[in-house]
This record gives sequence, C-alpha cells and structure tokens, in this order.
Amino acid sequence: MEWRGWRARLVVMVVAWLAGATEATREEQLLEESDKFIGYDELVDATDRFSITGVRNYSELLFDPTSFQIVVGARDHVFRLSMVGLQMLEASDWAANKSTVETCTLKGQSQEACHNFVRVLHLHRGRVLVCGTNAFSPLCTWRRLSNIHHIESWDKGVARCPFNPTHSVTSLLTIEGDLYVGTPTDFSGRDSAFMRSLGPGERLRTHQYDLKWLSEPTFITTFESSGFVYFIFRENAVEYLNCGKRALSRIGRVCKNDSGGMRVLKDNWTTFLKARLTCTVPGDFPFSYDYVQSLTYLPREQMLYGVFSTAENSIVGSAVCVYTMSAVNASFDGPFKYQPSPSSAWVPETADKHHFRCEGSGTSLEADFAADKFQLMDKPVMPRSADPLYILNGERLTHVAVDVVATRLSGSIHVVFVG
Ligand SMILES: *[C@@H]1O[C@H](CO)[C@@H](O)[C@H](O)[C@H]1NC(C)=O
Ligand SMILES: *[C@@H]1O[C@H](CO)[C@@H](O)[C@H](O)[C@H]1NC(C)=O
Ligand SMILES: *[C@@H]1O[C@H](CO)[C@@H](O)[C@H](O)[C@H]1NC(C)=O
Ligand SMILES: *[C@@H]1O[C@H](CO)[C@@H](O)[C@H](O)[C@H]1NC(C)=O
Ligand SMILES: *[C@@H]1O[C@H](CO)[C@@H](O)[C@H](O)[C@H]1NC(C)=O
Repeated sequence: MEWRGWRARLVVMVVAWLAGATEATREEQLLEESDKFIGYDELVDATDRFSITGVRNYSELLFDPTSFQIVVGARDHVFRLSMVGLQMLEASDWAANKSTVETCTLKGQSQEACHNFVRVLHLHRGRVLVCGTNAFSPLCTWRRLSNIHHIESWDKGVARCPFNPTHSVTSLLTIEGDLYVGTPTDFSGRDSAFMRSLGPGERLRTHQYDLKWLSEPTFITTFESSGFVYFIFRENAVEYLNCGKRALSRIGRVCKNDSGGMRVLKDNWTTFLKARLTCTVPGDFPFSYDYVQSLTYLPREQMLYGVFSTAENSIVGSAVCVYTMSAVNASFDGPFKYQPSPSSAWVPETADKHHFRCEGSGTSLEADFAADKFQLMDKPVMPRSADPLYILNGERLTHVAVDVVATRLSGSIHVVFVG
C-alpha cells in the first residue's frame, strides 16, 4: 500500500510500558540497538501492497472492521479492498468533469492540481462520505458502503475539503453525524478554520482572520474524548511574534455541545482553546522538534503518540514524543496565556473555566466575553518522559501508527510504526 509520503523508511519499535510506572525507563533510549527495533527491510516482505498503474496519491484510508474491508481514496478514484491481502473488491472512477477542469486551468492552476484528490473519507451508518478537491471546486458525495461506485447524493464540498490538493485537511465524523473539519475554506487558502460544517449540530467555526485563534495553520489530525473534539495542528506562534516567525505544534479543542455565541461570537466557537505541544531534548541547550507531522490517539490507553520534525530551515531531524491525556488536561486546567494589548507581553491569567469545560448552561454574554479574550493556555502539554521516545537524525518522519498488542509475558505492549 502506497501511503502519502510514506517513504522507503519504516521502523517498528516495540515499547513495553511497565505497569504502574509513570516515568519512561532508560531502556527506551536504547531501542535502536535492541531486538525491539525492526527496520524497513525486515518488514517489507511481510506486508501486502496495493497500487494500480496510472493511479496516484492514495491519501485516504477508511477501515471497516465489521466487513473486513478498507476504502481507499486516491486521485480521481475510490477503491474498496479486502482487509486481508488487499484484494480489490470494487473500483470507482471519480474525476472532475471537463468544464470544471477547464475552469481550473483558466484560473492558472496546473494540470496536475486540476484533478480530483480525495481528501475526506468517513463512514456513517452504512454510508460513506467521500469528498474531493474536484479541480479546485470541492465536492462531497454519499455512497453505500456495499456499492461505493453508486453515488446516492451530492453535497457541498467547501468548508469540508480544501480547494488546493497541497493544503492540509483533517476531519472527524462523530456518531451523531457531525463533521468537524480543519482546512482552508477558500480558493487562495488564506481563510483557514476549524469548524463543524455538516450534521445536526450548529455550524460553527474559529474566528475569521484572527491570528490569535489560528495563524497559518497546518492541520494534522482530530479525535474526540470526554465531550471534547481535539485537533492537532502547527501554526505560527503569536506569543513569539516579536522574535520573528516561529512555527509550533498545538493541540486545540472545542466542546461538542458548544452552540455558538450570542453576539460577537455568533456562529463561532465559544469553547475554543489551544495549548502548545512540546517535544524537546532537555539540557543546557534544549533542542526542540517544533513541527508535528503526524499523531495518533489511543482512546483506551488515553495516550497520544506524535512524530515531530525540526523546522523546515533547520538541521533535518525527527523525534517521537508520547503524551498522556492527563497531561493534556493539566494544561487546559491551568492558567490562560493572555496579551492585554497588542504591544504588551503575554502573561498568565486565571479565570473561571466552567464554560470552557463544557459545563456551562448554554450561551451567555460572559462566555462570549471569555472566549473572545482567551484562546491560548499558558502551560504547554509536556511529554510522558523528559526525553523523546525515539530520535532520528537526518530524516523527516511524517507518519506514526500504534498497535496495542496483548502479550502473555509483558502484558500490553505498544508496537509503534513510524515512516
Ligand atoms: C501525488 O503524487 C505524486 C507522486 O506520486 C507527487 O509528486 C505529488 O506531489 C502528489 N500530489 C499531492 C497533491 O499530494
Ligand atoms: C460539472 O460539475 C459541476 C460541479 O461539480 C456541475 O455544476 C456541472 O453541471 C458539471 N458539468 C457537466 C457537463 O457535467
Ligand atoms: C463568526 O463566524 C461567522 C461565520 O463564519 C463570521 O462571518 C463572523 O464574522 C464571525 N464573527 C465574528 C465576530 O467575526
Ligand atoms: C480529562 O478531563 C476530562 C474532563 O474534563 C475527564 O473526563 C477525563 O477523564 C480526564 N482524563 C484523564 C486521563 O485524566
Ligand atoms: C454540555 O454537556 C455537559 C455534560 O457533558 C453538561 O453538563 C452541560 O450542561 C452541557 N452544556 C450545554 C450548553 O448543553
């Protein structure tokens, strides 16, 4: 299986978290020298692969464990495969039509970009939501899982899928049928938002063109936990703007039962907050991996595994950092970081958090006021151990996946795949 950017390096680490231990052990730093570390070459023969000549950009995967199948979204195509052996069960062409492609090239986009790149793929009650960039004219379709070739209905694609295939998007379709999406909402890609843009919940978004909410974000992933929808992204750090542009990794969240503001924040989130996610090698000269590239959330373990790289203009390197949801809670339960005026320093400030914890009784002017005032938490989310779990010099890792395996002798172990 070719996976977006999943290059010729795939590494598997086996991490045994000692039961009850809160500090990671020294053992983890020596992974690479131990038999708990498996390289790409050893793995490649044991994996199934799928690709079709002429088809590229297999960027979305949707797992359907009840029917042992996988839906794959690629450029101009959707496939349904068997989970075991990756045999093709069904193929569906979904290219942009001629007039849409013509309009796209007339607007100055390349032939390459004027294809339909599938970027959103979700399952809801036996139906699959498939959205694509459709030659810079985003479009969504609903299909039956048992017959993905047949389009049951069409839906609006803007604010659900980016226009530009190189722009980031992350989305989550909840059991209630609400679609949460982080992506640019316009042709140019200047108006990025995290929003709820489909389903029974109110349509809400992050405050438009407000750098304190989002500043040139790249969206990585999103997941739900305890009544919140969390999303992982990187953005220019407003709190460091006077020291030049600096991108940082963030975890943002909103309450699932946010119903929007009354006045200033009408149609916008009133529970949006974000915190910095740090992945740093400590010491006299701490070395930071500021670019989150991929992250996976383990709901049962209440843990997050992220791969981070150095910034684009610095020495190439990557690290894997692990966080607990208690560390995430600790940051969101702590003080806010607040800038009283555009020229003043950022200071910690405490204020009532009732509403931000989804415990409010609904909309109120106080909640609007607080949401307009605070977006950033003062304390960053710290990893589980002082040092990253794994460091790789000279390469930029872009993907992480974790398999939790029960064993007889070591209890539950985490098999970490990075590529
Ligand atoms: C699609 O894949 C090709 C190579 O397989 C790559 O060069 C190109 O950047 C990809 N496009 C997108 C939008 O990911
Ligand atoms: C092409 O697609 C656009 C929207 O995606 C639609 O409005 C138009 O009618 C289609 N044109 C043809 C010729 O099918
Ligand atoms: C709230 O969201 C709406 C719709 O996205 C937007 O038009 C409006 O400007 C936002 N409110 C404020 C105060 O910016
Ligand atoms: C985090 O906080 C939420 C409530 O805000 C709670 O439901 C959840 O159990 C907490 N998680 C952990 C791991 O502490
Ligand atoms: C949101 O849900 C929480 C429980 O999870 C509840 O206490 C609170 O009243 C709800 N708020 C709104 C505005 O519905």
